Amino acid sequence: MFHVIVMFCLCWWHLIGVFGESVSVMEGDSVTLHTESQIHEDDDIVWLFGVKQSLIAKKWLIFSTYEGPDEIFRDRLKLDNQTGSLTITNITTQHAGLYEAKIRGAKLTSKTFSVSVYARLPVPVITRNSSQCSSSSSSSQQNCSLVCSVVNVGHVTLSWYKGNSLLSSISVSDLSISLSLPLEVEYQDKNSYSCVLNNHISNQTTHLNITELCHTCSELFIRDQGLPLLYIVLISAAAGSLLIVATIMIFCIYKKCRKTTETRSDSALCKPARKMKSKKDPLYGNLAKKQ
Ligand SMILES: *[C@@H]1O[C@H](CO)[C@@H](O)[C@H](O)[C@H]1NC(C)=O
Ligand SMILES: *[C@@H]1O[C@H](CO)[C@@H](O)[C@H](O)[C@H]1NC(C)=O
Ligand SMILES: *[C@@H]1O[C@H](CO)[C@@H](O)[C@H](O)[C@H]1NC(C)=O
Ligand SMILES: *[C@@H]1O[C@H](CO)[C@@H](O)[C@H](O)[C@H]1NC(C)=O
Ligand SMILES: *[C@@H]1O[C@H](CO)[C@@H](O)[C@H](O)[C@H]1NC(C)=O
Ligand SMILES: *[C@@H]1O[C@H](CO)[C@@H](O)[C@H](O)[C@H]1NC(C)=O
Repeated sequence: MFHVIVMFCLCWWHLIGVFGESVSVMEGDSVTLHTESQIHEDDDIVWLFGVKQSLIAKKWLIFSTYEGPDEIFRDRLKLDNQTGSLTITNITTQHAGLYEAKIRGAKLTSKTFSVSVYARLPVPVITRNSSQCSSSSSSSQQNCSLVCSVVNVGHVTLSWYKGNSLLSSISVSDLSISLSLPLEVEYQDKNSYSCVLNNHISNQTTHLNITELCHTCSELFIRDQGLPLLYIVLISAAAGSLLIVATIMIFCIYKKCRKTTETRSDSALCKPARKMKSKKDPLYGNLAKKQ
């Protein structure tokens, strides 16, 4: 019986030693791994990282920190000289893994930490699926089809909420993937909908604004395909009216010029016409003289 208990204790100790304390941290943040004990002046500490147990910090008379494998810890480590706790600043995914503190004082103690680093979540984007609009099915006439999407995410869940109740969700465990989740709402729907992206430690939410996104299909048609047509119509109309104005102006000038040449009054507009006429006069005059 005693042997069983001893073995159980050893196994338990071993498991603690393997898994230790789980720590979740967001990319770019700092994390402190606490040794939870006051260290004495003559205690020795070593901090080891990864399966290869690389030495990254120690107190052996003096406190020192190291850059670690591939210098990934360069300028990122701080060792507390009161507690021996280790702080990692501006953490990235390459700092995820196992950390072990070995303290040699009156007795040898060890503590391990399993550090998980989560990427910062992007804000989900809600868009109208306008391809549903071009189909003339009855649902596209009554309902607005929306899609919530995110790109480059891993180990996340994307969900649609109506108020506080979950409508649908999709989860992914791979790294770097794009996700999209559809939603159908009626145009007059007054409920509040939101699209939420979350991982174990954080979330990002985008609220749906139906009035902003769900125009009727005809409005969408004008916006997406009708706009060039609208321009053509407008430009033609403008060109047409210009032509009419120009015609009227030419007609008026012509009429005015005829009037002015008859009355022989000085008008700048009619000068060329008058000149031609006055040039002709001497010519005819000369011709008449010669004959
Ligand atoms: C501990 O660190 C503080 C500031 O970081 C320093 O002032 C102090 O001298 C250090 N003590 C020892 C024993 O190294
Ligand atoms: C944090 O680390 C990233 C990647 O190593 C680096 O580009 C960035 O400048 C660092 N930020 C700070 C505040 O040190
Ligand atoms: C938009 O709707 C069409 C037709 O139902 C569908 O084939 C397409 O996958 C949808 N697009 C997105 C991004 O969900
Ligand atoms: C429109 O969407 C609602 C959910 O918002 C759904 O219950 C209904 O069946 C849809 N109508 C059509 C015609 O697809
Ligand atoms: C998102 O995170 C906040 C705290 O940051 C929390 O209060 C909220 O309940 C979370 N929302 C969801 C849907 O997980
Ligand atoms: C929704 O969008 C409309 C039009 O852009 C805006 O006037 C309204 O304030 C928005 N509503 C909310 C709750 O943001």
